[in-house]
Amino acid sequence: PSSQTWSQRFETALHPAIALFNASIGFDIQLIEYDLTGSEAHAKMLVKTEIISPEEGEQIVTGLETIRQEYRLGEFNPGVEAEDVHFAVERRLTELIGDVGKKLHTARSRNDQVGTDLRLYLRAQIEAIQGQLRQYQQTLLSIAEEHVETLIPGYTHLQRAQPLSLAHHLLAYFDMAQRDWDRLHDLQKRVNISPLGCGALAGTTFPIDRQYSAELLGFEKVYGNSLDGVSDRDFAIEFACAASLIMVHLSRLSEEIILWASEEFSFVTLNDSCSTGSSIMPQKKNPDVPELVRGKTGRVFGHLQGLLVMMKGLPLAYNKDLQEDKEAIFDTVNTVRGCVEAMTILLTEGVNFRVPRLRQAVNEDYSNATDVADYLATKGVPFREAYNLVGKVVKTSLAAGKLLRELTLEEWQAIHPAFEDDIYAAIAPQQVVSARNSYGGTGFDQVHQAIARANQVLGEG
Ligand code: ARG
Repeated sequence: PSSQTWSQRFETALHPAIALFNASIGFDIQLIEYDLTGSEAHAKMLVKTEIISPEEGEQIVTGLETIRQEYRLGEFNPGVEAEDVHFAVERRLTELIGDVGKKLHTARSRNDQVGTDLRLYLRAQIEAIQGQLRQYQQTLLSIAEEHVETLIPGYTHLQRAQPLSLAHHLLAYFDMAQRDWDRLHDLQKRVNISPLGCGALAGTTFPIDRQYSAELLGFEKVYGNSLDGVSDRDFAIEFACAASLIMVHLSRLSEEIILWASEEFSFVTLNDSCSTGSSIMPQKKNPDVPELVRGKTGRVFGHLQGLLVMMKGLPLAYNKDLQEDKEAIFDTVNTVRGCVEAMTILLTEGVNFRVPRLRQAVNEDYSNATDVADYLATKGVPFREAYNLVGKVVKTSLAAGKLLRELTLEEWQAIHPAFEDDIYAAIAPQQVVSARNSYGGTGFDQVHQAIARANQVLGEG
């Protein structure tokens, strides 16, 4: 900016490299629609409180709407000389409507203005992300509904543990997404507070009506302390934290899909629309989408850390450091939105579960060993004793290259006389899963109930 922008105190223009270094217009232009909306509310408040005349207010609002149209038509492209979106708008407004444009900034500072813009932006983006999460959940639920009776090995320590309903496995991600949705909902309370009218830091000498401008902008309340209002970024950090957890969840599912798509697991096949080939190895089909989601997770964590560190040493109130919040928040928003969308598409049309292969997998392991121990326990053998006995069974079966279901009744009875013919039914994978009918378990009845609960959550909007 030249000495035009600043007060007459300034005599020489900024060094061009410093102007570039200082400017945020390159990225905060993304806030323009919110800046215009915030300015309109401010102008209306100035009219209501008789700080400016109704005619002046009308001219200002009309001018701001003209800028909005220009921007939407791609005709408003302020350069670095504007420094930031707030100056760019004020300058254009004054070009359009003359000196009245210079009245807009009465009883306001860029400090409360930028805080207002950022909150309006984030409020809208959070709603958009919540909408995307709903679609992602709907997709998980649809696949789950098709696969209640499809079994998949369940793991702990990435070792086969107990078989699961595939629906149960997918619904775990549904529930994580539900917490993510709730977290976003909760933090809106703290996003939706108006700093407008806090001024530069101390409030203003004009008889403004902060409640009125807040109401026009749909804020639930106003900051009670002007210093806090202009320098609080808790809401941005909370958002980055909620975003980080969304990414944790997407990244865990990504990791599973990547494993499942490997030759070693072969639980899913990837469709061409969501995978890529290799430039050298013609046989390859790579799970780029989940890999990118997993990779981008680190960026979002980085932004959370960046924001925390940016804030920790700031004396009250506004400091230019705060300009650094924007790229962090914008990139967090864009990354999360891109990843939720990509994962939703991937699940919708990019992965197919290989049901026969899954059936074979759960049929050919020892993940029903717990059920043998449970079988003995129901026949009165203390569980720990049963557990030890079955450990021995697994050991000898492994040595003999036999699965548990391949043991003869004589072999079972040699281990413990309580074994009867019904042991075979008790350890069949469908039965093993179906029997885990405790609340929240993988038993089919439970999974049907979980599906009903999930549908109810989605039905509530
Ligand atoms: N571009 C600035 C930001 O992003 C706007 C607020 C500037 N305020 C100031 N007093 N320098 O934070």
